[in-house]
Amino acid sequence: MLTQEQNERLTQVGSGTPMGELMRRYWHPIAAAVEMGKFPVRRRLLGEDLVVYRDKDGTYGALNPVCPHRGATLDLALVESGGVRCPYHGWKFNETGQCTEQPAEPAGSRFKDNVRTTAYPAQEVGGLVWVYLGPQPAPLLPRYDLFVWDNCLRDVGVVTLPCNFLHIMENSVDPHHVEFLHGRFYDYVLGREPTFFTQHATKIGFDTFEWGIIKRRLVKGQTEESDSWKIGHPLVFPNILRVGGGGYYSFQIRVPEDDVTTKLYYYTVFKPLTEVQAPRQEQVPLYQIPLYDDKGDFRVDVIEVQDLAMWIVQGPVADRTKEKIGTSDVGIVKLRKLYETEMAKVEAGLDPMCVIRDPAANVEIELPQERHAFGSAADFLKTVLDGGLINYSPLLDDVIALFTEADNAAAGRSPAFAGGTPGLADEPYSPDGEY
Ligand code: FES
Ligand SMILES: [Fe+2]
Repeated sequence: MLTQEQNERLTQVGSGTPMGELMRRYWHPIAAAVEMGKFPVRRRLLGEDLVVYRDKDGTYGALNPVCPHRGATLDLALVESGGVRCPYHGWKFNETGQCTEQPAEPAGSRFKDNVRTTAYPAQEVGGLVWVYLGPQPAPLLPRYDLFVWDNCLRDVGVVTLPCNFLHIMENSVDPHHVEFLHGRFYDYVLGREPTFFTQHATKIGFDTFEWGIIKRRLVKGQTEESDSWKIGHPLVFPNILRVGGGGYYSFQIRVPEDDVTTKLYYYTVFKPLTEVQAPRQEQVPLYQIPLYDDKGDFRVDVIEVQDLAMWIVQGPVADRTKEKIGTSDVGIVKLRKLYETEMAKVEAGLDPMCVIRDPAANVEIELPQERHAFGSAADFLKTVLDGGLINYSPLLDDVIALFTEADNAAAGRSPAFAGGTPGLADEPYSPDGEY
């Protein structure tokens, strides 16, 4: 249970608030690169409205949507070489916010030199466009492994939720929900016998490490020698969950638009453990995550949407003054403490964790991840095609083809492992990866 003041410290993200200032020390995805087009894209991040664009030179920019001349909107700006041009009188702005042209002012006028609009750095990595709202100098945009791996397929699903980001982050350190929400509840919805996520978590553990919190979970039949305990998977501070295994890896990135709205990016990489040549992708495709069915009810027959529903029904901001925290909520307590620790660093003028300033340390940041969670390529297909988000991906056919090829290759090379992950045949397989 928290006091109202503690709850507000952890959930408010506007400028000048403790969490808002912490979040402003990180780059956040604001759009998919594939969305950049003829006009800028209107977005909201940490309570601020922005338009984002890629100009004709390939330079990304993020500007205040309100033109400083007389208030027309840059949503309708012309995207040109060297920046964007307001549709009303043609004032032009570059990615630093500097006004560079005012067509109706007298020739030779220096008036434009004194006009600037609010601008933030924007960059692309892994097919996402990221923006940094914090103080200069900006840290490096992290090159986490999934964003820079080669020979793989990538897609990104997106959805905007009417709730605070902390509901979602707390779910990331809540392994017990897997067996109930994605197991018992799911089977109940479908009216079927226990099928997936049937294993009871016998032990859970959380350790703070360089990139956030490592989560460990043992289910019945596993020992502390299993990947699930020895390696686990990370919550990447401050707002990314990494899950997957068996050739499927995902970053779930939770971006606060404001105190009561959060944009989710489900960024998935498909790279079978038995390496085969993946088709070349020109761009990372984007798709909308289905939240409701035709009747307006939550699509709780989709595994990932089961989580989304639970976050929304907690209300715009969960009232943590009334919660009853049990032993099984140990991860949630740890995460709240970590946010407090890192907010205190920012308040003391220090960099919080996961702020990267050394280019040599940012070539490719490898994150720990258990390998066996979804078994072999064939096991993976069986599990995730049964109610997983991938059914809505434009890459569905490509992913099935890739994993089928990988499964055939694994069988050809090592028949003993055809039904299990190569090198991990002693691990009991059950579809118990976390969602
Ligand atoms: S309002 Fe934008 S150029 Fe006049
Ligand atoms: Fe979940």
